[in-house]
Amino acid sequence: MSAAARPTVLLTGAGGVVGQSLLREPSTVRLIAAARGPLDAGRAERVVHCDLGQDRFGLDADAYRALAAEVDVVIHSAGLTEWGLPAERYEPVNIEGTRRVAEFAETAGAPVHFMSTAFVAALLPCAAAPLSDTNITKPYVRSKLTAEQLLAKSGVPHTVFRPTNLIGDSVTGWTSRPQVVQLLSDWMCRGRAPFVLAHPGNRTDIVPQDLLSKAVLRAIEQGVDEGEFWVTYGAEAMDMETTLALCAEHAASLGRTLPEVPVLHPDSERGRDLSDLAPMTRSYLSVLRDVSEVTMASGGVLPTSMPELRERFALPVVRDTDAYLRTLRHASAPPAERS
Ligand SMILES: NC(=O)c1ccc[n+]([C@@H]2O[C@H](COP(=O)([O-])OP(=O)(O)OC[C@H]3O[C@@H](n4cnc5c(N)ncnc54)[C@H](OP(=O)(O)O)[C@@H]3O)[C@@H](O)[C@H]2O)c1
Repeated sequence: MSAAARPTVLLTGAGGVVGQSLLREPSTVRLIAAARGPLDAGRAERVVHCDLGQDRFGLDADAYRALAAEVDVVIHSAGLTEWGLPAERYEPVNIEGTRRVAEFAETAGAPVHFMSTAFVAALLPCAAAPLSDTNITKPYVRSKLTAEQLLAKSGVPHTVFRPTNLIGDSVTGWTSRPQVVQLLSDWMCRGRAPFVLAHPGNRTDIVPQDLLSKAVLRAIEQGVDEGEFWVTYGAEAMDMETTLALCAEHAASLGRTLPEVPVLHPDSERGRDLSDLAPMTRSYLSVLRDVSEVTMASGGVLPTSMPELRERFALPVVRDTDAYLRTLRHASAPPAERS
């Protein structure tokens, strides 16, 4: 495909957080949104009903063939993203669904841009430390890594984008749905955290969702069809103390004074035994501990392609601290004031 063409792009997972961000992002490509249910089609020309859990995406043979004839590029963003489920729950969509996407791409002669996760760093042979079997993210991350490997074996030209946890839009803070970072932040900003858990030196690596969307769309516009891109801040990312300071700043802007929150080592006596805490507190702290373990498995700093992404795809230079504050403000603004 030449970089000058106006490619027709099939976007799986169009109703998801990443899909919705992609559908709002200005671009020269022609988008077809693939989804299981109703959605805001944004800039897409049309929506096709596709279930990746079914052969031919659940389409009849003629419709499948016609779609393949029309599509030049696939963005594969559909997936089961909830953490904490048994491994077999991720197979039908994250693994088998990706296999079907590779088959479709082969039929269409289209490259695939796959939305993986930066957390795969924790499972790569070069990981600094092993991930414990009880880590809540592990079966999900394993399924994403297996999907990456499956794409590599398929021979289909593809890129792999590996975003860290996403936050709202870098300018407005908008997101179609709050995710784990927003839920944890809300909990901290309400002064509910008795302490937080993080390995010393770990970065809190969170990225505004539109940076991922911009990178993917610019890659397609440039005709890029290979490469691995870590959509993370790496060593630029803030530390946990800064994260807490930003939560305190945001809470103060709402008239709340947060108590000082200690950052404890997850392996400390207090960090290891959370059994006396309320269920919600326990579950938020366990998520923090497990995410910290993932970061630690990458040496405390996630791998990053941010300098390359800025240079090749003209990503704006956005400070993660500024973007985080915008996300916090957007989440606590009255619904009528949210863009
Ligand atoms: N958001 C993040 O922070 C983040 C970070 C790292 C990596 N990622 C990766 O980026 C991708 C997109 O994430 P996201 O945040 O947009 O996830 P999301 O909000 O959970 O959306 C996932 C989408 O996949 C669709 N999907 C699930 N099963 C499907 C099936 N059988 N057939 C067709 N569509 C199906 C869902 O459709 P329904 O709405 O019908 O269920 C949903 O629209 C994921 O693959 C994820 O691994 C996301």
